[in-house]
Amino acid sequence: MLTVALPKGRIAKETLEIFETLFGDGFKFDDRKLILETPNFRFLLVRNQDVATYVFHQAADIGVVGLDTLEEQGLDVVRLLDLQRGVCKVSIGMKVGEKLDLTKPELKVASKMVNITKRYFEERAVSVEIIKLNGSVELAPLIGLADMIVDVVETGATMKQNGLEVVQDIMSSSTYLIANKNSYVAKKDEVLDIYEKINGIIKAEND
Ligand code: PRP
Repeated sequence: MLTVALPKGRIAKETLEIFETLFGDGFKFDDRKLILETPNFRFLLVRNQDVATYVFHQAADIGVVGLDTLEEQGLDVVRLLDLQRGVCKVSIGMKVGEKLDLTKPELKVASKMVNITKRYFEERAVSVEIIKLNGSVELAPLIGLADMIVDVVETGATMKQNGLEVVQDIMSSSTYLIANKNSYVAKKDEVLDIYEKINGIIKAEND
């Protein structure tokens, strides 16, 4: 029996489609239920930001999560497979027309992703004040809370509609299948079996 943590939120739809393809009609969470039991799997529906936590603590054997979230959290899990979905970038955004000038003193950066942000500026020896927000990050430069944001950009529509533009990309991201390190050893056959099946779906799409 494998326990699988699946994400709610931005990457949920494309991810759940893979499992619908694999498990057909049997794969359906009832209304508000967060657990789905099938003969060989227990599926858990968790917040995207919590998937790696469940997997790291072995509350789930495997899970599906965005690389951006993995990099932000830095939890030690096995990255099994790039699902080639939920493709996005983590980028620096500023008000349209403004230039990124890292020599400017006392730069303020608003972000949900404080660790990625911190690493980026530390690697460039730029000292910035990082303001942690939990969402609607695009608002911060508009009302003077920050000079720039570091955020996920998928279609670019959110930045555009709020008068912001990307001035610098930090990383590319997509959705990954991950595994707990112990489960990967103890349940290797089961983990590799589902890995092969999902890999087959992705390969077929690329042919
Ligand atoms: C992300 C990000 C932007 C938006 C970008 O939020 O914070 O607001 O998506 O997408 P776009 O480029 O297609 O407009 P997300 O939907 O992941 O929500 P979250 O706050 O729950 O992480």
